[in-house]
Amino acid sequence: MAQVIPTIDQVKAEAMEIFRKEFGDDPDICVFAPGRVNLIGEHTDYNEGFVLPMALPMVTIIVGKVNGNKNCTIVSTSKSITTTSKLEFDVSDRSKIAPGEPKWANYVKGCIAYFPADVPGFNAVIVSTVPMGSGLSSSAALEVATYTFLEALTGVECKDPRDKALVCQKAEHEFANVPCGIMDQFISVMGKQGHALLLDCRDLSVTQIPMDGIDDYVFLITNSNSPHKLSSSAFRERRDACFEAAKMLGKKSLREVTLDDLEVLKKQGASEIILKRVGHVINENSRTLAATAAFQAGDYIKVGELMNESHDSLRDNYEVSSNELDTLVNTARKIPGVLGSRLTGAGFGGCTITFLKKDSVDLVIAAINKSYSGTASFYIASPSVGTGKLDCK
Ligand code: GLA
Repeated sequence: MAQVIPTIDQVKAEAMEIFRKEFGDDPDICVFAPGRVNLIGEHTDYNEGFVLPMALPMVTIIVGKVNGNKNCTIVSTSKSITTTSKLEFDVSDRSKIAPGEPKWANYVKGCIAYFPADVPGFNAVIVSTVPMGSGLSSSAALEVATYTFLEALTGVECKDPRDKALVCQKAEHEFANVPCGIMDQFISVMGKQGHALLLDCRDLSVTQIPMDGIDDYVFLITNSNSPHKLSSSAFRERRDACFEAAKMLGKKSLREVTLDDLEVLKKQGASEIILKRVGHVINENSRTLAATAAFQAGDYIKVGELMNESHDSLRDNYEVSSNELDTLVNTARKIPGVLGSRLTGAGFGGCTITFLKKDSVDLVIAAINKSYSGTASFYIASPSVGTGKLDCK
């Protein structure tokens, strides 16, 4: 069976309860931000390409209150690691805030450091149902929830949601040392109930793509529970290879590059590996636009085919899959009613996403439980809303 995802109200109630226990007071601010799953468009965002993610019902909730002194005290619990950790630091001089241990706090510290207004001392509790290190953007959910919390705390609201996503991305770059693209923060800010989001990462324009017509079909996330290591050198290496190829061609990014340019790169002496990476990005951009059009036309068979092609290219050309992810994908694809299955997120572990008939969900879960050597977890991904405030009742 797919896991039951706690509702936002349940997570909120838990966070409020912990706040009362820790601080002996009621919080007066409550915000949330979702994790995400990417339907297609992988490793394209930092190449100014296209991505098609949707926000998930798994969220990070922050409850809190101004405390009248210069420190913030933050208590965090995470469902997936079932530990609680407490952190206290001075927010009166934000230029002195620096990354350090615990690592989870760097996302919060980075957002506080780059928030465009002074931040008063506060107490807060963070509770998240986004599985950590699984490629479902627990870090973006934490950054975006922090930013929304700071908006509520200070009354200084971001006029353009794009700026909010960009500040959160900067926090991840500078405080967590992860050279991520913009997709995760964007969807956590801009997600809309019942929609996926087509994002053009060159000009940051967005189109909401309704998903309510998919009726008998559903997206199943399978967590391999083999954690991905996003900050590992492999992600940076892939990104640098793309930047180098664009530079060799005298282009700003791979968005400006076409399949014809592969010949030029070859003549310039680009390695076989660079050619494979570039080929993936160019074709993945086309697949993302084609999948969006197919969704809009109700051609779900086509969507599934494109998802399969995306995975195969991530496996063979971008080389970011793993044995675990390949096993999950291959097992799912053999089940009748499965239209497509691929890894989602950065890869190197983490999750797969499978597009399939609702009736086939239990069959896929049973087949994976039988053939997968690890222990997988399953979630139904329904397209959910982006970050927001909740009342504190
Ligand atoms: C991670 C990054 C994103 C994106 C994906 C790969 O999730 O945070 O910006 O690059 O990997 O598509």
